Amino acid sequence: MRIRAAGERDLEDICRIMCSTEPFTSLGYTRDRCCEAAIAAVEEGWGFVAEDGGRVVGFVLFRVFDGFPLGGYIRAIAVDREYRGKGVGSSLMEAAERAILKYRGNVFLLVSSFNEAAIRFYEARGYVKIGEVEDALARGEAEIIMRKRRPAH
Ligand SMILES: CC(C)(COP(=O)(O)OP(=O)(O)OC[C@H]1O[C@@H](n2cnc3c(N)ncnc32)[C@H](O)[C@@H]1OP(=O)(O)O)[C@@H](O)C(=O)NCCC(=O)NCCS
Repeated sequence: MRIRAAGERDLEDICRIMCSTEPFTSLGYTRDRCCEAAIAAVEEGWGFVAEDGGRVVGFVLFRVFDGFPLGGYIRAIAVDREYRGKGVGSSLMEAAERAILKYRGNVFLLVSSFNEAAIRFYEARGYVKIGEVEDALARGEAEIIMRKRRPAH
């Protein structure tokens, strides 16, 4: 398995993984919306994919300079179901964090309040809840704001 920068040739795979995965399906991410998110990130140059034997099995899309004012922002991450729990998501997060923390002091992300597995995944990687936005993407469900600071040297 290797992590490499995402490019145009990966758009199909990123869309396929995103629009067939929770929480994106529950949040109303149609195929068009998934593809728009993928194109925006890849055009800006900020995305990584995980590849196993030539097959794309996961991705992370992020912003470095134009997300939150004080730091970069993880826009979306997902790993093919059969590849989860093998360290792929952690490797993708590490690659995105390295790119963001080179320039900014914080990494921010939003995660749906019902996505408990992802919240645990982020907390185990040093992310702390710093707020929430009620009724953000789905009525009755909050988006939790999480932050990881650049480690002090
Ligand atoms: C969250 C996600 C990206 C993690 O990727 P991953 O490759 O399974 O992550 P890793 O193997 O590096 O780490 C798995 C860890 O998360 C936990 N975990 C969370 N969700 C899991 C899942 N669905 N399957 C397996 N492990 C999961 C494991 O217990 C493990 O903990 P550990 O590191 O303490 O052992 C992946 O589960 C996924 O694609 N989820 C669906 C999409 C999603 O929720 N994205 C986040 C939107 S904000």
